[in-house]
Amino acid sequence: MVYKIVRYGNPVLERAAEKVTNFNTPELRQLIEDMFETMYHAKGVGLAAPQIGLSLHLTVIDTQIDGEGAPKPIVLINPEIIRKDGKQTGEEGCLSIPGFREQVTRAMVATVRAQDESGQWFETTGDDLLARAFQHEIDHLNGILFISHVSALKRDLIKRRIKKLMKAGEWE
Ligand code: NI
Repeated sequence: MVYKIVRYGNPVLERAAEKVTNFNTPELRQLIEDMFETMYHAKGVGLAAPQIGLSLHLTVIDTQIDGEGAPKPIVLINPEIIRKDGKQTGEEGCLSIPGFREQVTRAMVATVRAQDESGQWFETTGDDLLARAFQHEIDHLNGILFISHVSALKRDLIKRRIKKLMKAGEWE
């Protein structure tokens, strides 16, 4: 099932999500499957549960979507970044803020500690685009959007343009 993606302006995107406490359930498996379906349908490389209106510490990522390699789906439950190294600056967007892309500086390498569908803890390290996705998606779980990482001037400009789109009924 493809969920509708919640857009900037919905408060669920700007509050810290709840931790996941029930593992190994059919509901959790279904939710993960549906989040991947929603993400692939929207041609995104990551999707966090708050983006479908669910305030849960759960995100799905697949940065191979545009690559030649096989899909590499990653599920992160209750994740946190435990190590960051280096810096990268590049264009970033968000399925909840469509039409807006900005340069964002992130760590070049990020190591995440998270639980899988059965509640097992694991660690995974990514660099480049995958590291960027880890940081962007885990930000979502803490109620932080990528526009928090751009200058106040650019952020205000984006907010004003979104308000205009809202008034015109072109942002829902
Ligand atoms: Ni996003």
